[in-house]
Amino acid sequence: MDAPTTTSADDSTSGDGGGWFTPRKPSRGPEDGEQQHRPDASAPPAGEALPGAFTPPPAEPEDRRIPGTSAVPSEQRTVPPQAQSTAPPISAQQAQSARKASPDALLVQRTMAEITPVADKVTSYFYALLFTRHPELRALFPVAMDTQRDRILKALLTAAEHIDHTDVLVSYLKNLGRGHRKYGTQPEHYPAVGECLIGALSRYASAVWDEETEAAWVRTYTTISQVMIDAAAEDELRAPAWWFAEVVSHDLRTSDIAVVTVRPDQPYPFLAGQYTSLETPWWPRVWRHYSFASAPRPDGLLSFHVRAVPAGWVSNALVHHARPGDVLRLGPPTGSMTVDHTTDSGLLCLGGGTGIAPIKALVEDVAEHGRRRPVEVFYGARTDHDLYDIDTMLRLQQSHPWLAVRPVVDQRAQLPDAVREYGPWNEYDAYLSGPPGMIRNGVDALRDIGIPEGRIRHDSVEELVTSD
Ligand SMILES: Cc1cc2nc3c(=O)[nH]c(=O)nc-3n(C[C@H](O)[C@H](O)[C@H](O)COP(=O)(O)OP(=O)(O)OC[C@H]3O[C@@H](n4cnc5c(N)ncnc54)[C@H](O)[C@@H]3O)c2cc1C
Ligand code: HEM
Repeated sequence: MDAPTTTSADDSTSGDGGGWFTPRKPSRGPEDGEQQHRPDASAPPAGEALPGAFTPPPAEPEDRRIPGTSAVPSEQRTVPPQAQSTAPPISAQQAQSARKASPDALLVQRTMAEITPVADKVTSYFYALLFTRHPELRALFPVAMDTQRDRILKALLTAAEHIDHTDVLVSYLKNLGRGHRKYGTQPEHYPAVGECLIGALSRYASAVWDEETEAAWVRTYTTISQVMIDAAAEDELRAPAWWFAEVVSHDLRTSDIAVVTVRPDQPYPFLAGQYTSLETPWWPRVWRHYSFASAPRPDGLLSFHVRAVPAGWVSNALVHHARPGDVLRLGPPTGSMTVDHTTDSGLLCLGGGTGIAPIKALVEDVAEHGRRRPVEVFYGARTDHDLYDIDTMLRLQQSHPWLAVRPVVDQRAQLPDAVREYGPWNEYDAYLSGPPGMIRNGVDALRDIGIPEGRIRHDSVEELVTSD
């Protein structure tokens, strides 16, 4: 089979929001006057219609639809918007215990089974379609797309496959939609991506592709996009798409770890334990995640602990090239590894390598809130030399009687084993930050020693898998 055969994919004009998708404005579009942020040059003028926003398909029963942002008023949220999970939507267990799948989800899953063995080809074809049909979109992406290439498609397919898991999915997609503002993504880009996605799927799942399947994908993609578009529009009312941040100090702690401190060009609200995405001037449009190494400070400065990984683009730039005066770009804060100040339970914190950075921020946060609650930090590294921030942590321990810091040096970095030797931990909330393997082992070990999963917080492991 040659090029995609779906009429809609081929006929589409995408750029004007035509084709299959019924445009509608975001639930709450950008308005003039209220923005505290710099105008986004690529955004449509305030008040102007936002082409390409979709109406969720009318044929879908209400309970199968993901509501737009307006269905979840911000005052009903129990966590700050930025603190919501960015983890990809669904774990394997959740998927297994899913309610009976909707007809659309069944058709989507049938397509997935077809394309999974040829996912690489689908990805290549999807991007080839996107960039040949919409060359203007190429400039939004990094020059080299090696490590990240499959992330959009993966997220799309994961989201589509789990379209029935409304609440987790909506929270994930809203966050994704907000995060897409820094790429310059506009509502009218969504139909283009959708049509190329369906073009690629119809080609590689041709054995099962029919009108019904295509209709299911259109509905699913439309729903996903609408949540992202609405979340971005809502975010535009209160935050810039990105922040410029000037490096004000650069402290090389070891041959491959630097503490980089920056001053954002406007206030940057975040919570201790969260992370941001960061772009350096040396690799335009290449974004990587870094955790804030301090709780919010009165002077508004932000610090990051960065380890240069072998042949790593952004980390090497930050550790070996960045100097005071260089200007970086930051995306919005994100991540759910934040302190619950409504309880007095203890905090059991595991930080491996530069994973100690957000743990230090959590300790500062507890100290600032002034409520005495036990905080036990296990700081893991492969060698003494890698415990680059132990002095800071021991100083904090000296100032705060409720804090215990235990360095764990082990070539195999068996941090969870060390935790087992102490305890009991049943009155504690657990926080983990570090390499993906450490987080996975750590979660298992903590569950084994009786800490319920709901009380274990960590950065997104899937994110770590894809970006590390
Ligand atoms: C939520 C989150 C928070 C993070 N916080 C921090 C932080 O505070 N400090 C920090 O230094 N990093 C942090 N990271 C990792 C960071 O986002 C980058 O992945 C890392 O800096 C490598 O990016 P790069 O562009 O230099 O490497 P890339 O160009 O992405 O990778 C180059 C090569 O190095 C490999 N590689 C990537 N990461 C690692 C690694 N960790 N060890 C060994 N090889 C690797 C890749 O597989 C690839 O082959 C965090 C990641 C996530 C998901
Ligand atoms: C439903 C639709 C979409 C989904 C699910 C999706 C998902 C993703 C995901 C998961 C990433 C990885 C990084 C991150 O988390 O931000 C990403 C990156 C990106 N997306 Fe999207 N996306 C969608 C639509 C779009 C559209 C319409 C555009 C505009 C053309 C776009 C442009 C980009 C760009 C430029 C990147 C960065 C790529 C890179 O770093 O290599 N996305 N997207």
